[in-house]
Amino acid sequence: MAFKLDNLVRENIRNLTPYSSARKEFSGAAQIFLDANENSFGSPLRENYNRYPDPLQTEIKKKIAELYNLKPDEIFVGNGSDEAIDLLFRIFCRPQIDNVLICPPTYGMYQVSAEVNDVKVKRAYLTKNFELDSGAIQNELDENTKLLFVCSPNNPTGNSFKREEILRIAKTFGGIVVVDEAYIHFSGEQTIVSEINNFPNLVVLQTFSKAWGLAGLRVGLAFANREIIKLFNRVKPPYNVSEIAQQAILRAFENKSQADETIVEIVSEREKLIEKLLKFSCVKKVYPSDANFVLVKMTDAEKIYNFLLEEKIVVRNRSNVELCTGCLRITIGTSEENDNLIEAISKTEREL
Ligand SMILES: Cc1ncc(COP(=O)(O)O)c(C=O)c1O
Repeated sequence: MAFKLDNLVRENIRNLTPYSSARKEFSGAAQIFLDANENSFGSPLRENYNRYPDPLQTEIKKKIAELYNLKPDEIFVGNGSDEAIDLLFRIFCRPQIDNVLICPPTYGMYQVSAEVNDVKVKRAYLTKNFELDSGAIQNELDENTKLLFVCSPNNPTGNSFKREEILRIAKTFGGIVVVDEAYIHFSGEQTIVSEINNFPNLVVLQTFSKAWGLAGLRVGLAFANREIIKLFNRVKPPYNVSEIAQQAILRAFENKSQADETIVEIVSEREKLIEKLLKFSCVKKVYPSDANFVLVKMTDAEKIYNFLLEEKIVVRNRSNVELCTGCLRITIGTSEENDNLIEAISKTEREL
């Protein structure tokens, strides 16, 4: 199937007249802004939040473009990468006609967004070793498959997929390949972002929620060629990233080295935690992880999950997820949090 962007985009989106925000409609150097029904008097807060934020997050895109050696118009900034996922459905998938392909076990929002948008989900399960099953993927794709989600490193399994394999799929697929790199900064693998201009159907997602430690701000990114990014900008709500979030992201960039150090620390804590977990007899297996969490197969996951809760430690129970039977997903915490977890599992083991 040859890729042709125009053929993929929903007709209503192709024909859409996007919302034109007040501030876009003038050019020049105005001083008095009476165009957007804002409140010129200010607010109860000391900071000035009475004006709408930059709809295109120009300063943030400039910084990210420098960091990744891209052009600002190859970047979309969203209200979390969850917004980018939802927009992909709205741009490309006709409700009740089109479908998307996911590779479970994987991040749950692909399915939720599909259901919200009334789009059918097809599944090509990972192999037992959590590798992509290329044969199953090829079998499931059809002419109405608009999106293929590949999460790498994958949530909840923690492993990355081979770049060459993802690109091989992208080369033959006539729809959009969405590579979700929410956890890429914890991985030994390189980001695939540099391929967006070699593969016109590639969309790469990243987020400030994980390595940057800014989940509360809700800022995520999509990288793609500029034609796809133009579509994101047409469909998104005009002011999708708040002024507070934009300012905070710019401040975080000034201290990027701290985020880089945290990544090193999390990876080191991950390896220490894996080593300690493997010593427990209730731990059957710890899957290798390229992320800030580990998937752990337990002798009695349900019971251990509940024991940990009693100890006021909450992990993610994945024991009922296909291919993750008996597994808990544990986020890597601070050194102290991980010690508390190990202590709690020791206690649990004594009581089991
Ligand atoms: C694979 C994956 N993608 C995206 C997200 C959501 O990211 P954001 O916080 O940017 O919406 C998550 C959150 O857990 C995730 O695991």
